[in-house]
Amino acid sequence: MAIHPKEHRIVLKYADEPGYTPKIESYLEHGGYDTLKAAFSKKPEDIRDEVKKSQLRGRGGAGFPAGVKWSLVDRKSGKPIYLVCNADESEPGTFKDRQIIHKDPHQLIEGMMISAYANDCAKAFIYIREEMPHGARILDEAILEAKGKGFCGDNICGSEYSCDLVVHRGAAAYICGEETGLIESLEGKRANPRIKPPYFPAVLGLYQCPTIVNNVETLCDVKHIMEMGADEFAKIGRPNNTGTRIWCVSGGVQRPGYYEVGQITLGELVNDICGGPLPGRSIKAIIPGGSSMKILKAEDRYKGKNPDGSEYDWGLEDIPLDYDGIAAAGSMSGSGGMMVLDDTVSIPAALANLMAFYSHESCGQCTPCREGSLWLKKITTRMVHGEARPGDVDLMKSVADQIAGRTICAFGFAVAWPVQSYIAKFEDEFREYEESLSNPDTDRTSIKELACNHG
Ligand SMILES: Cc1cc2nc3c(=O)[nH]c(=O)nc-3n(C[C@H](O)[C@H](O)[C@H](O)COP(=O)(O)O)c2cc1C
Ligand code: SF4
Repeated sequence: MAIHPKEHRIVLKYADEPGYTPKIESYLEHGGYDTLKAAFSKKPEDIRDEVKKSQLRGRGGAGFPAGVKWSLVDRKSGKPIYLVCNADESEPGTFKDRQIIHKDPHQLIEGMMISAYANDCAKAFIYIREEMPHGARILDEAILEAKGKGFCGDNICGSEYSCDLVVHRGAAAYICGEETGLIESLEGKRANPRIKPPYFPAVLGLYQCPTIVNNVETLCDVKHIMEMGADEFAKIGRPNNTGTRIWCVSGGVQRPGYYEVGQITLGELVNDICGGPLPGRSIKAIIPGGSSMKILKAEDRYKGKNPDGSEYDWGLEDIPLDYDGIAAAGSMSGSGGMMVLDDTVSIPAALANLMAFYSHESCGQCTPCREGSLWLKKITTRMVHGEARPGDVDLMKSVADQIAGRTICAFGFAVAWPVQSYIAKFEDEFREYEESLSNPDTDRTSIKELACNHG
């Protein structure tokens, strides 16, 4: 597989190299586990400091700085500290973690063992999405190989440090990816998220013990920070947006796929690397970081002030492809699952599709989320099936506004943000459905066809 010159691969460096396999021999031939061996010459707190200095931010969704998360761990409780790798990869549009697991599982194990040593964890888990059985088998085998060579288990690399690493198959629900839902599931219960406070995992996590939950890519980055040093890692990006990121691009582009890049713009990813829109089509909108994130409209200008007071005025393609760039444009980079919607896509039909997903995946603990997501599914579905009622657009807005910020977990935002942002950016399309369909003279058959073709 040819690597585009604008890619900057560190985590996926060997993943697509001809002849490279998930077996430990391949990994060792490429310098694998050397960084883990070297880590034992450092004190755990020095590794934690290095990760903090690198400004690595979590690659799972919220972008919380990993070093800060590690510094919040309650180390005085006397309870065991657990490390959990979040390999649930449940955010629609995201397919990067499975590439790492399928193609380079030892990199994840090495990153985890360094992180476990740095945080004094004697037990670590990889919580893998139930629908990825092949990945789970690869990890099981890789852990056996690593144990056999002394890279996990007892007395790692001949040191006094031991850490047991376990693969746990998930419970096949989107909410299992939310860290506190994941912890409940890991304890053998239904994945109902816990309320924060008090259940911040760093204090009251797995079995009520301090727990670090990090994404697969984040934990792999730890290995690279320790290998190249925090300063070199930070140089790849810009302050607060350091290192590379793997973007998963799907939808209306010529070359969808996963791409690891340093600091580039959204246009460089979508047009140069992914080849731009399909012939004869144009890009209408982009969902930048997984289906929960707010939509960005192609024809909008993105304006504001930088922290230093200077002003920016970007077109969609100029948006810097990192946490702060996408945040400045009003959305989030989330899990890196970028969906490109071209001019054949009906925005109301796309929203109806999403709402069907979210209403199915709500765990049901909070009334606004449980009832609201179902209402949003009902309204969007009837809208695209020719049954819209007068006032439906305002009703959708009102339901979404009453979910956002009123729930136990961030799933509430995941439901509300698409509704709020799709209506804000494409209100005319929703009104068109509402107005034409509430007119008894409308030809409903053709409207249904339109939604189906576009959906
Ligand atoms: C509804 C929901 C689903 C989530 N799904 C995932 C997921 O599949 N994988 C993941 O790494 N993080 C997911 N997250 C984020 C996790 O809660 C958590 O922030 C993350 O695993 C922390 O790792 P990081 O700091 O390395 O990003 C999800 C969050 C929410 C609210
Ligand atoms: S917001 Fe939704 S998914 Fe999260 S706890 Fe409440 S009901 Fe469950």
